[in-house]
Amino acid sequence: MEKSKSISFTFAFFFFFFFSASGPSVLMTLGQLLPVVEDQGGNVSRIQTYIIHVRRPVETKLLSDVDRENWHKSFLPNTTLDTGKPRLLYSYRKVISGFAARLTHDEVMAMASIDGFLHAHRDERLPLLTTYTPSFLGLSERDGIWYTNCFGKGAIIGVLDTGIAPTHPSFDDKGMPSPPREWRGHCDFRQPLCNNKLVGAAAFRGGRPMPVEIDDNGHGTHVASVAAGSFVDGAAVLGNANGTSAGMAPKAHLAIYKVCSKDGCDDSDILAGIDQAIHDEVDVLSISIGSRPRSSITDSQPRPFYEDSVAIGSYAATRHRILACVAAGNDGPYEGKVVGDAPWILTVGASSTERRIRATVRLGNGTELDGESAYQPSSFNSTLLSIAFPGYDDQGGRRGCGNDSFGGIDVKGKIVLCETGYNVGNIEKGEFVKEAGGAAMIILNQREQGFTTFAEAHVLPAAHVSFSDALVIESYFNSSTNSTPMATIIFKGTQFGSRPSPAVASFSSRGPSQNNGGILKPDIIGPGVNILAAWPPNVEPTSQVSSSTSTFNFLSGTSVATPHLSGIAALLKNTHPHWSPAEIKSAIMTTADWLDRDRKPITDDYNGSDANLFAMGAGQVNASTANDPGLVYELHSHHYIRYLCGLGYTEQQIMVITQHHIKCSNNHDISVERFNYPSISVSLGSPARRTIRRRLKNVGEDDAVYFAEIEEPAGVKVEVSPYRLEFDRLYERRHFYVILTTNGTTPGKGQVSEGQLSWVSSKHVVRSPISVVFS
Ligand SMILES: *[C@@H]1O[C@H](CO)[C@@H](O)[C@H](O)[C@H]1NC(C)=O
Ligand SMILES: *[C@@H]1O[C@H](CO)[C@@H](O)[C@H](O)[C@H]1NC(C)=O
Ligand SMILES: *[C@@H]1O[C@H](CO)[C@@H](O)[C@H](O)[C@H]1NC(C)=O
Ligand SMILES: *[C@@H]1O[C@H](CO)[C@@H](O)[C@H](O)[C@H]1NC(C)=O
Ligand SMILES: *[C@@H]1O[C@H](CO)[C@@H](O)[C@H](O)[C@H]1NC(C)=O
Ligand SMILES: *[C@@H]1O[C@H](CO)[C@@H](O)[C@H](O)[C@H]1NC(C)=O
Ligand SMILES: *[C@@H]1O[C@H](CO)[C@@H](O)[C@H](O)[C@H]1NC(C)=O
Ligand SMILES: *[C@@H]1O[C@H](CO)[C@@H](O)[C@H](O)[C@H]1NC(C)=O
Ligand SMILES: *[C@@H]1O[C@H](CO)[C@@H](O)[C@H](O)[C@H]1NC(C)=O
Ligand SMILES: *[C@@H]1O[C@H](CO)[C@@H](O)[C@H](O)[C@H]1NC(C)=O
Repeated sequence: MEKSKSISFTFAFFFFFFFSASGPSVLMTLGQLLPVVEDQGGNVSRIQTYIIHVRRPVETKLLSDVDRENWHKSFLPNTTLDTGKPRLLYSYRKVISGFAARLTHDEVMAMASIDGFLHAHRDERLPLLTTYTPSFLGLSERDGIWYTNCFGKGAIIGVLDTGIAPTHPSFDDKGMPSPPREWRGHCDFRQPLCNNKLVGAAAFRGGRPMPVEIDDNGHGTHVASVAAGSFVDGAAVLGNANGTSAGMAPKAHLAIYKVCSKDGCDDSDILAGIDQAIHDEVDVLSISIGSRPRSSITDSQPRPFYEDSVAIGSYAATRHRILACVAAGNDGPYEGKVVGDAPWILTVGASSTERRIRATVRLGNGTELDGESAYQPSSFNSTLLSIAFPGYDDQGGRRGCGNDSFGGIDVKGKIVLCETGYNVGNIEKGEFVKEAGGAAMIILNQREQGFTTFAEAHVLPAAHVSFSDALVIESYFNSSTNSTPMATIIFKGTQFGSRPSPAVASFSSRGPSQNNGGILKPDIIGPGVNILAAWPPNVEPTSQVSSSTSTFNFLSGTSVATPHLSGIAALLKNTHPHWSPAEIKSAIMTTADWLDRDRKPITDDYNGSDANLFAMGAGQVNASTANDPGLVYELHSHHYIRYLCGLGYTEQQIMVITQHHIKCSNNHDISVERFNYPSISVSLGSPARRTIRRRLKNVGEDDAVYFAEIEEPAGVKVEVSPYRLEFDRLYERRHFYVILTTNGTTPGKGQVSEGQLSWVSSKHVVRSPISVVFS
């Protein structure tokens, strides 16, 4: 990993775009129509890429690709720049009604007066923040239950990412059927590298589709194999972690859309990738790319859906019956940071597993503290070493183990304490420690990282410990005033059965959404800490891994949780080919586990308390129960349109998303609380009474009777009417009301209270979390 790519959050292990204050243009809507684009440098003549949304003419369906492209070009001042480069980068077919083009601010301003113009926003390129850890080969710690019934045969998962290493054994197609006959994708590798597993590959970068280069980052390869990697047996690295690796839907097909490079992913390329995936007819989209949390209008406002390419693209996908699974972000544990939060998206947070790659710290006084590391050299004999703590009170040097940390301190032959953060990645800290002559390293979590630790590819003996263990080490260090503080590391390899499990990862972005009018997000959590999956053999770190092509790696992040859900959605698509994206979502959410392996409430690895709904949504995905939910909540385009009207968007702004003319005025009920979502989230005054309407569809047995079971949020009385729902046949629908009442003795303004509603039959539990914010 290049030093220049040092990351600001060592735990932010995925492509995630952080708002950069330097240089975004500001775009506002003047009145109803004209965009005003201000360039920060006042430079209105700079040529940049803009995404332009235009009103789709009624007869568009009849237009050929060439006609559509010509129509899009008619909005441009001319077709080429002075340099001879074409202005038009993409003429989108399905994902939006519009195009991406190279223009100046003035030219966009001029275009706004052309009939049919709707909205323009500047293409964004933000740094790609990612890192990796080495892995052990061949181990799969995934539950067999996730794929024993159904391997996702026939389903196609579209992965938008950095591409793929196509010859990795995880993408071997032994035993794979050919893709469905309707499959329209193609394979743009330079060589014929596609097979029945890898049925499509396309790359988009700043314009036309181009040949797909082999994944030179690793992220895309990893994510794709988590979703649908083939079984890879009996391989091991350094004698550790021997087992079978497989994706969530090992018999599903993969279609790869390379829309990101090492430098990041552009909105215009993301839209082009989704456009192609819709055209190709994938079943599920896996998007481990964060949409930026900030608006281009003001840096404190969240980015509205009509400027968020992931939200816009996912809406178009949903309209084509493709479920989009999108990462919630790695900005935890702070509240209100969740992204990918549009209601048509399945928003995925991350949880830990019960596996640890143990590296235990032993202090000079005998106390042992369990940490993690993927690099476990047998040559390290665990003799006690004296501790150096750069930057700590009077110790000399600086904190964080960066390149300038060891100036005033001797770390030679010592075990060095390094705090997470300070813009230095964990592996990088080790490189600096080693360079300065340190013998070993202990990475101390700060408060925000809580109990979440990583097994990483360190370059020297190391252990990453939790914040609470960091405090013990610190206090031992403090108390050793008359003796030299000593410590060492004992490597214990791969261990299972860690508790509590699962727990919400400290980095997983939390709600409430700042953007979506109060819908509870994230929707679901899935495994996303130290996940083992395929890795390109030519990408670092390879030294500790293997010389074989069958290389694996650990990654952490909501980006890795996301393909778990994409794979599970593919499994459901196999058994329930007619379910809509909303129905698949509902099935996954209403059957999620809110208790952990010990039947206790799922905890939050930030501080060990019970996780709240803003951290875990409906809870931990449970593939086997999701396959047979009993009842589902449906949502259709007219619900989404009403919802968007309810957000207060103008009709033009909504058309950017829907591509079709809509009218808000005739919609009577636009309150988000009556939106048929599988979770319930309301804002309640005190005293107050609020009635929520929901409708369920029977997808279980012909005859079924369900009773409501309520766990009331503290301070709220909840009644359900009717409390009994009887279904006489499959696909029958029944609606019900939930009446929430507060009486003036409720918690204070801004307090949040949580409960749940379950519809229980002899065979099924259909559970919705209830979140009440007191206003
Ligand atoms: C504005 O942008 C143009 C084109 O990129 C460049 O030639 C010019 O120097 C810039 N002017 C300023 C003041 O930055
Ligand atoms: C295209 O238009 C721009 C101004 O909008 C002008 O500077 C440029 O010379 C034109 N290019 C051609 C090839 O006509
Ligand atoms: C991995 O496990 C398989 C089956 O248990 C065994 O045959 C193989 O020798 C093991 N490989 C290594 C490197 O330990
Ligand atoms: C452990 O390793 C260190 C450094 O490699 C060496 O100095 C020491 O003698 C070893 N101790 C034992 C007990 O082998
Ligand atoms: C330390 O790293 C910073 C940022 O990467 C760099 O600007 C600086 O030159 C480095 N200093 C040394 C002494 O290498
Ligand atoms: C260690 O001592 C420093 C002051 O020297 C203090 O700030 C810090 O809180 C102490 N840490 C612990 C864990 O006791
Ligand atoms: C070692 O020191 C730490 C920190 O002061 C303390 O919490 C722990 O109990 C001590 N262990 C023993 C065995 O005394
Ligand atoms: C843990 O964090 C949650 C969420 O921030 C908070 O509600 C809870 O009170 C915290 N628990 C403790 C013990 O501090
Ligand atoms: C999924 O749910 C079933 C039924 O409640 C339960 O027995 C099982 O343990 C759950 N699976 C996981 C992986 O938690
Ligand atoms: C108000 O509601 C709370 C909680 O639902 C309940 O305990 C209390 O008795 C109620 N008070 C009145 C005056 O109804």
